[in-house]
Amino acid sequence: MPHDQPPSLPAPDATSAAHSERVAAYICERISAAGGRVSFAEFMQHALYAPGLGYYAAGSTKFGEAGDFITAPEVSSVFGGVVARQCAEVLAQTDGGEILEYGAGSGKLAADVLTALRGLDALPSAYNILEVSADLRERQEASLRERVPDLTGLITWLDAPPAASRGVILANEVLDALPVERFVRRDTGVMQQCVTEGPGGFEFVETAASARLASAVEAIEDEVGVQFPDGFISEVSLAVGDWIAGLSAALDEGVVLLFDYGVSRREYYAAERSDGWLRCHFRHHAHNNPLVLPGIQDLTTWVDFTAVAEAAVAAGFEIGGYSAQAQFLMAGGLEAEMQGFAELALEEQLELSRQVKTLTLPGEMGEHFKCMALQKGAIATPPGFSLADRTHVL
Ligand SMILES: C[S@@+](CC[C@H](N)C(=O)[O-])C[C@H]1O[C@@H](n2cnc3c(N)ncnc32)[C@H](O)[C@@H]1O
Repeated sequence: MPHDQPPSLPAPDATSAAHSERVAAYICERISAAGGRVSFAEFMQHALYAPGLGYYAAGSTKFGEAGDFITAPEVSSVFGGVVARQCAEVLAQTDGGEILEYGAGSGKLAADVLTALRGLDALPSAYNILEVSADLRERQEASLRERVPDLTGLITWLDAPPAASRGVILANEVLDALPVERFVRRDTGVMQQCVTEGPGGFEFVETAASARLASAVEAIEDEVGVQFPDGFISEVSLAVGDWIAGLSAALDEGVVLLFDYGVSRREYYAAERSDGWLRCHFRHHAHNNPLVLPGIQDLTTWVDFTAVAEAAVAAGFEIGGYSAQAQFLMAGGLEAEMQGFAELALEEQLELSRQVKTLTLPGEMGEHFKCMALQKGAIATPPGFSLADRTHVL
């Protein structure tokens, strides 16, 4: 079936286009099996994670200049260096502590954190990775064998979270990759955007919201103090509660560091955001149509950090801190990471300055990206949250 794409997007090459057709055929089968439509969360789940087919499950290049988007660890090793400094503080308080990374992408953050921890003489007893994509897991193994060959003995890929561990859990840009439901507020009730197959490709169809989604939307309206106007569209992550509960089951004592683009609930559901926070990325072009290029474009949603904090408290965590990425990096040891800058060659200085600007400037990743610490046990909050904690805005 043809899938019309927005005219501003580059055309996929023949191999990618053929792959996308296979993903579309798979989703069409799922739609038929479900009686003619699937929820948007189910569509997103298939488009991103269908085994061997979905965006994260198949072999395309996703991260970096040659891919579709760039994440903080891919921008600069300075990010991993600062993260490592927070890990060192926590590991020193949890005798024999481990690190568990969710969704390790290309493996860059793992390599940078381990390299920096070795430099600080603060290696963890183990570095575990939990990655849902078999393809990415293979790439992570290859990249870590190349980048930290003498530390691979510490690294294990897990199929399920450990029963209980001590130390640090890291997740950079994982929350934004969890499938979300999309709702439409009507004066007559809460509706749900489902996906069906139309003559020109996938189409949205509005149905009465499931009881769970309707009550989630009504609870948000109660909290922000208004009923959304007729036609207001946004997203709700029904998956975040279970995901955070899984983190809690995996960690007995220590700190979870979550990094992602996101805002508080009041900003998330503000009247001017009447078309939600879902974004699609294809070859560094951002757009708003999740129904095209299935399996070869990234689908992602900004994070409602109030929902994350609520789920965390319900799961037994304390909120250690919530900061913008720029403040987190500055308080967490950016200056120490820049030691030796003066000795670099001019070209290297320019490149490092460019990287740090991308990580910290408000118009780049400095303000929209947030870091949240969730804690358990008698552990001091890592220094990255000491400069401008914004927990009060959640
Ligand atoms: C946007 S990418 C970020 C990758 C990497 N952390 C980085 O910053 O470059 C999202 C990652 O999360 C993984 N992922 C998604 N859902 C997950 C889950 N429930 N558990 C573990 N990993 C997950 C994806 O396969 C992918 O590796």
